[in-house]
Amino acid sequence: MRARVFPDYEAMSAAVADVVARRLGEEPSSVFMLPTGITPLGMYRRLVEMHRSEGLSLADATFFNLDEYLGLAPDHRASYHVYMKENFYGLIDADAARVFVPDGTAPDPEAECERYEEAISEAGGIEVCVLGIGRNGHIGFNEPGAPFDSRTRIVELSESTRNINAADFEAERAPQRAITVGMATIFESREVLLLASGTNKAGAVAAAVEGDVSESVPASMLKSHPNAELFLDEDAASDLGRGVAG
Ligand code: PGA
Repeated sequence: MRARVFPDYEAMSAAVADVVARRLGEEPSSVFMLPTGITPLGMYRRLVEMHRSEGLSLADATFFNLDEYLGLAPDHRASYHVYMKENFYGLIDADAARVFVPDGTAPDPEAECERYEEAISEAGGIEVCVLGIGRNGHIGFNEPGAPFDSRTRIVELSESTRNINAADFEAERAPQRAITVGMATIFESREVLLLASGTNKAGAVAAAVEGDVSESVPASMLKSHPNAELFLDEDAASDLGRGVAG
């Protein structure tokens, strides 16, 4: 797993956006998997800018989101439907028929997971998967212990994830469960770009890069991936090479 370290968040975000734009240039109908969170906002801003001022079209691409809270309506302000619409899909020329976000209010959530996994297969699998990383090493909502052979499924969120994400929920608590794309589904992506910014990710990054490949650090799975690359700002890279990974 190659790690690229950038001087700051903006440089990191621009580099990831460039990779996405390059893949779109090579193959306009590429299939992407995309994350939510604070980290990818700079990449989305840059892609929107490229769409507006440089004529980048995303109209033929297919987009899948990594996850969604279970029980949250698509118009709930903290839902990932709203996040993606406000930060990306609503600002570019994405074709709504090729935009997929798990439905957290599906009457049969298990069937929704199967439907989602099938839609990914029908699209030919994921070409480029963009990921953030949790402070506990999670990818998507695959928390520590998530089996490497897991598929899209319903998961329990860890207390730490719920506390970190509480900021999105004002007086409410973050939901206890979510739908997430599975570890195996992520692993089958032809290319994985993992983004991390800030010192609060440094420990998770070091554990993923320098520790053992272990289900207790979900992101460490990517060390076995043939084409995974880390995009880090200097703060997120600050524990690398210090022998601190557990
Ligand atoms: P963040 O979330 O970008 O908001 O830090 C990343 C994650 O938890 O995967």
